[in-house]
Amino acid sequence: MVEETKKITEMILDAAQKAREETSNEPEPELTRPLQWPIQATIGPGLEGAIACESKIGYVNGSKGWLIYRGYDIFDLCAYSTFEEVSYLLLMGKLPTAAELEEFKLKLINYRFLNQTLRMLMSSPVESMNTMSALRLGTLLTRRLITLLDLEDGSPTPADYINSDEDSIPMETAPIGELHAIYEFKHRSDDMDDTEACFHLIAGLSTITAAISRIRQGRMPLEPNPKLSHAANLLYMITGREPTAVEERVMDIALILHADHGMNASTFAAMVVASTLSDIYFSVGAGIAALNGPLHGGANEQVVRTLIEIGDERNVKSWVEKSLASKGKIMGFGHRVYKTYDPRARVLGVLAKHLAETNESIKPLFNTAQALEKEVGTQIGTKKKIFPNVDFFSGIVYSCLGIAPEMFTPIFAVSRVSGWTARVLEYLENNRIFRPRAMYTGEFNKGYIPLDQR
Ligand code: SDX
Repeated sequence: MVEETKKITEMILDAAQKAREETSNEPEPELTRPLQWPIQATIGPGLEGAIACESKIGYVNGSKGWLIYRGYDIFDLCAYSTFEEVSYLLLMGKLPTAAELEEFKLKLINYRFLNQTLRMLMSSPVESMNTMSALRLGTLLTRRLITLLDLEDGSPTPADYINSDEDSIPMETAPIGELHAIYEFKHRSDDMDDTEACFHLIAGLSTITAAISRIRQGRMPLEPNPKLSHAANLLYMITGREPTAVEERVMDIALILHADHGMNASTFAAMVVASTLSDIYFSVGAGIAALNGPLHGGANEQVVRTLIEIGDERNVKSWVEKSLASKGKIMGFGHRVYKTYDPRARVLGVLAKHLAETNESIKPLFNTAQALEKEVGTQIGTKKKIFPNVDFFSGIVYSCLGIAPEMFTPIFAVSRVSGWTARVLEYLENNRIFRPRAMYTGEFNKGYIPLDQR
């Protein structure tokens, strides 16, 4: 491991130490105990405070600013793990052995090849589409047409559907809709378990996202390089050059940080769709759709635009005063759950500082970001518990890695697809269709008035 990647590990462990000094990771008892349904909860607008299910996948400690995946502290996973290992952990519930990790990586290598899906995607105006709608289109194009392989006697074996010159995610040649996808949630045969579709999508979203970026650059998509890691392939397929060890490490850490985050809007959307026994492609499509909303995804893109708009650090104070006076939301700040510093921002902040130091065009943005963080903290931080969230520094990091702002949210999805699929799989073990109620506050007993009397 080159000297500088060792330095990144040290920086993460220092950020962890700082977090421990400023807060604690003592779990919140009311949010970390087994449930006996039915339960009482105090619920605010937007289902704030509602408990949707039990989960062993991840816990967001909003009062203390702590995040764990399957019991492992996010700082440790960033310091020592990889996105492949973390995806396996989220889906399978344990860290893989060396053999299990190699087998999982080999699956991802195969599933990253999506030549036919990309050919289909390129028949759409990707260069002028919203990048998240292009990602959702690409994801749904990987869904499979009903073929003999879907029928009981045609159950696919891994050799069937991974073919060297065919799509590793067999796709529709004529999108006519289907009665069921090949990987819907029931065992099709002994050798096929439900996680295959999830592996398909974890691998596939990276290739589709990179292809969208290349097409928008006016270039042809690049095939993945089987020798590169997930993070390195993502950067390679976007930029056209193999990343340095530091760039690969930073991308890998960013993917780890975004992989799962409790019942956030996009994860909940994916679970709602899956709870109807629709399939994982539609579930991930719903997650992508929800993440497209600026209150959830895209804030990091807005943060970079805000920093450019503010221009110089000297303008920060007046900019913040004007924004707050207009009751505007400052992008990259605040969070429904974290009422303290987002632990992910602690890691991304040190990475942004490290990368910006040697990037002359980004360095001024980082300096403005530091001044903005300080000013927002002074004006509303403590009063309203508004702190930087995951999106505040991630845009600076991605800009240093050569990723265009319109690709920031698809990159978020490339990571979060692991959390979406893991939580969908877990929920389906004890599925119950999500069906909340609405309080009716309308009128009653109104007499019908014929059209000619209205
Ligand atoms: C993500 O859920 C997740 O886990 C999401 C996520 C994930 O990993 O999946 O963490 C990813 O979505 C990060 C958030 C990215 N979005 C932004 O940065 C957009 C800006 N943030 C705000 O829109 C807001 O903070 C939310 C949407 C993130 C949180 O919404 P809440 O908790 O519903 O906040 P609220 O609207 O109830 O605000 C409470 C108060 C209000 O003031 P008052 O009306 O009480 O006077 O805080 C103020 C808000 O005006 N406030 C802000 C603010 N966020 C909240 N004021 C200025 N700037 C902000 N960013």
